[in-house]
Amino acid sequence: MEDDLRQESVKRWLRGRFGSPLRFYDEIGSTNDEAMRWATIEEAPEGAVVVTDHQIAGRGRWGRSWFSEPHTAIQFSLVLRPRMPVDVLGLLTTALGLACAEGVEIASGVRCGLKWPNDVVVSDRKLAGILVESRVTGHMMDVAIAGMGINVHPPSSEPPPDVSQRATSVLHEAGVQATGKRPQRAEILGWVLDSFERIYAYLGSGEGAAELIERATARSVVVGKDVVVRVADGSTFEGRAERLLPSGALEVLVDGEHRAVHVGEVAQLRAS
Ligand code: BTN
Repeated sequence: MEDDLRQESVKRWLRGRFGSPLRFYDEIGSTNDEAMRWATIEEAPEGAVVVTDHQIAGRGRWGRSWFSEPHTAIQFSLVLRPRMPVDVLGLLTTALGLACAEGVEIASGVRCGLKWPNDVVVSDRKLAGILVESRVTGHMMDVAIAGMGINVHPPSSEPPPDVSQRATSVLHEAGVQATGKRPQRAEILGWVLDSFERIYAYLGSGEGAAELIERATARSVVVGKDVVVRVADGSTFEGRAERLLPSGALEVLVDGEHRAVHVGEVAQLRAS
């Protein structure tokens, strides 16, 4: 299917200030690296976006790499200047996940879930991932780069079984869920940026953050489940995911005690 992601097609679908100015690359190392360079060396304003058809050195969380075939995914990084304390980074990631789920749903009709802290999933298969990186002065976030990778088209060849069991794409799920919609990448990107801009506008206020947590909880595939959590040093523990906290942290009940997990990931979901 013809899906032309380029400067003009992306611009056609932009609604607000996020996405302007825009730099499009047919191929790049990592959009996060380019956006950070643009923001810190060339003073790119909040809302600036770097988007590419293909990354050759895409990065995921915890030093993992992020790989997509050319012409299949949306890979972009948004420059933010949040003027917020660095401890709201978790909330920013939650906001991006919610915006991705909502934007993908508006464009394609695909109902998406959120797997704390940064995965957008359908039937426990990953549809999109988020990587937020920041530069901090003192206690405040000076620049935050919000990077997102969304699988839109299935890969051209059958991936190895372990990958196909873990990953999915918007158009595959649109077929499974019979939504009748087949959006192009630029359209999905436009809706995701629009959704995020609306959420971001209220992030600084207590009420906005509370509403965000409520909407993210409604989509969470983790809250209320028995989980295995992996923390930054690689160790794991088991417990019951109780709720998302106002900071975006996950509260887990472990041996009768509540533990707030700020940095980590849900390694496993247990049937409960
Ligand atoms: C993860 O799931 O671990 C996060 C994946 C984030 C991938 C995106 S693609 C656009 C941006 N540029 C990068 O190098 N990474 C993010």
